[in-house]
Amino acid sequence: MTFDAIDFRNALGCFATGITVVTAQTADQQPLGVTINSFSSVSLDPPLVLFSLARVGGHCQEFISAGKFAVNVLAQHQRSLSDRFSMARDNRFEGIDYELGGNGCPVFPGSLVVFECETFEVHDGGDHAVFICKVTHVMAGEEEPALIFHRGQYHEL
Ligand SMILES: Cc1cc2nc3c(=O)[nH]c(=O)nc-3n(C[C@H](O)[C@H](O)[C@H](O)COP(=O)(O)O)c2cc1C
Repeated sequence: MTFDAIDFRNALGCFATGITVVTAQTADQQPLGVTINSFSSVSLDPPLVLFSLARVGGHCQEFISAGKFAVNVLAQHQRSLSDRFSMARDNRFEGIDYELGGNGCPVFPGSLVVFECETFEVHDGGDHAVFICKVTHVMAGEEEPALIFHRGQYHEL
């Protein structure tokens, strides 16, 4: 079967996922955040997770340099965060409520869970970099319905 990039993207969209905003902090204390649905568990021992990040755009090199992250797993009521952190704008953190977690990365109140982690390995993933991260702290959050992404649209559980 042959397929083009649009067919491939549409096929991948059949796989329903949760949504995260992965945050980091630059060396000069600027907060970074990107909406990510390529998050996945990898290993229980050691505790590893992964996400992939497009190499184009400003964030990939900054994330490699930062080396520490907070993976905020979004609840349904946090849909506006998913929009905000996937769209181009000057300051994605302007005017929103967040605090800095134990590893210095932004954490959003109301998230279902937050995984604080640090780079374990970064692999070449074609036009993406695959970040495998060691989880250093798990912050349990709200018992709310998850925000779901399927076929390019948000859904409720
Ligand atoms: C639901 C959803 C999931 C996304 N998942 C990813 C992802 O896993 N990896 C990625 O690189 N971009 C993903 N994106 C796109 C990025 O959020 C978006 O391209 C990025 O924030 C743009 O930032 P930049 O161009 O300033 O680097 C996703 C977007 C949405 C709406």
